Amino acid sequence: MNIGVIGAGYVGLVTAVCFADLGFKVHVVEKDAVKLKKLNEAQSTIYEPGLTELLDLNIKQGRLIFTDQIKPVVEQCEAVFLCVGTPSFIDGSADMSQIESATKEIVESTTFIKQKRLVVVKSTVPVGTAEWIDKISKLYSNGETSYIEIASNPEFLREGAAIRDFKEPERIVLGVASEWSKGILNRIYSSFDCPKIFTDSNTAEIIKYASNSFLATKISYINMVANLCEKVGADISKISEGMGYDIRIGRDFLNAGIGFGGSCFPKDLRAFLHTGMSKNVDFSLLEKVISINEDRPTQMVNKLKEMLWVLSGKKIAVLGLTFKPNTDDVRETPAVGLIEALVSEGATVAATDPLGIDNFVNMYPETAKNITFHHNVEEVFNESHAIVLVTDWKEYKELDWKSVKALLKLPVVLDARNCLDTDLMMENGFLYACVGREINK
Ligand code: UGA
Repeated sequence: MNIGVIGAGYVGLVTAVCFADLGFKVHVVEKDAVKLKKLNEAQSTIYEPGLTELLDLNIKQGRLIFTDQIKPVVEQCEAVFLCVGTPSFIDGSADMSQIESATKEIVESTTFIKQKRLVVVKSTVPVGTAEWIDKISKLYSNGETSYIEIASNPEFLREGAAIRDFKEPERIVLGVASEWSKGILNRIYSSFDCPKIFTDSNTAEIIKYASNSFLATKISYINMVANLCEKVGADISKISEGMGYDIRIGRDFLNAGIGFGGSCFPKDLRAFLHTGMSKNVDFSLLEKVISINEDRPTQMVNKLKEMLWVLSGKKIAVLGLTFKPNTDDVRETPAVGLIEALVSEGATVAATDPLGIDNFVNMYPETAKNITFHHNVEEVFNESHAIVLVTDWKEYKELDWKSVKALLKLPVVLDARNCLDTDLMMENGFLYACVGREINK
C-alpha cells in the first residue's frame, strides 16, 4: 500500500520513516528545498535516536521517497497523512495556514484525478479542524464533488523516544467519519495490537490536547507541592513515590524540577486554553498550570540566591540547554528564562549542552550574546561560583564530581532536575540543593 505524508517536520519524518519500515511505500512531500535535498541524501533534518539509520535503510530499499510535489503523491496514495506545523499565534490559538494550503493542494489534485482519498490529520489541531477541512475542501472543489474524506489520528510521540513510541504505542486514536475510512486505517494499523479507539474527529482531536494538558498539569501540580516542601522541610521525591504507587495517580510525570518546555506542552496548553475560553468554558485551571510553569526558572534563581546570597559578579555554569535530554530541541526550554534571570541579576553565564548549543544560538540570539558556550563540559566549570543543572543528560548524571569540585571557585550545585545523588554530593563537600527539598548545608 502507498501512503502519503505531507510535511517532513518532526511528526511527519518519524511517521514516514516508521511506516516505510513497516513495509509501506511512503511518499513524503516537503516544500523546503534545503530540507528536501538533505532528506534525499538520507540525512535526517532532526535529531532523533535511531532515525538516521532507518531513514537510510528505507530509502535504499525503495520504500521512502521525498518530493516537493503534492499531486503525484495524491495520485498514488489512497491515504495521505497531514503532518504540517500548527504554530501558536500571539493569543495562543493555533495557526492553521499550513493545514489550509496543504488541503487546497490535495483537493485540487483529487479534483484532477477524480478519485477518493483519505486525508488523515496527524498534526496537533484544535477541535473542529477535521470538520473545517471538510468544509473548505468543498469550497476548493469549485462546485464539483469533493473527493476527500477527513480522519483524525493524533500522534503521541515523545522526542528522544519517538521511534519506540510509534512502533509500540499505548493506544491509537482514530477519528473517522465512515466505514470506508475506518477500513483504510484498520489496514494501515493492522500490525499493531494496542487498543484502537475509533471515534468521531472532534473527540479524537480533544484526546490529544486533553492528554498533553493533563500531563503538563501533573508536572505543575508536583512543582506546586515542591514549593511547599521547601518551606516546611518535606521531601518531594518521597511524595512523588508515595503518590505514584496509587495506580489511579501513577508515578510518571511527577518529577519536580525547573518545569516543562518543548514544542508541545506549552503550545498545546495555550491552544487548549484558547479553545475552552472561546467556547465560554472555564479553563482557568490551565492558566494556573501555565503560570506555575512560567515561574519555575525564577524559583530556581531565588533558590540559587539563597545559596550564594549575591549573584552579581558571580560566574554560573549552566548544564543543559535543551528542554529535555536526548534531543537537540531548545524550543521553549526553561534554560532561557533561567539564563535571562541570572543575567539580569548581574551574573555571568557559561553554558554547555551535548547537542543544543547551535539551536540555542540560532533561536535565542539576544540571550546567547550574554553567554559563553563550551562544547567541552569540563571547560564550563572553570572558576565558576555555582553550577545549575537544567537538563538531566546522562553525561551530567555521570560526572566525576570530585574532579568537578576542583575546577570550581565555590562548591555550589543547584540540581534543577533532582537527578543527582544527594549523599554523593554531600560526601564530596558540595553545598547542594535540588527541587522540593531543603538546601543541604
Ligand atoms: C510530549 C508528550 O509526552 C507526547 O506524548 C506527545 O506526543 C508530544 O508531547 C507531542 O505532543 O508531540 P515531548 O514534548 O517530546 O512529548 O516531551 P515529554 O517527555 O513529554 O516532556 C515534556 C517536558 O516535561 C520536558 O521539558 C520534561 O523535562 C518535562 N517533564 C516531564 C517534567 O518536568 N517532569 C516530568 O515528570 C516529566
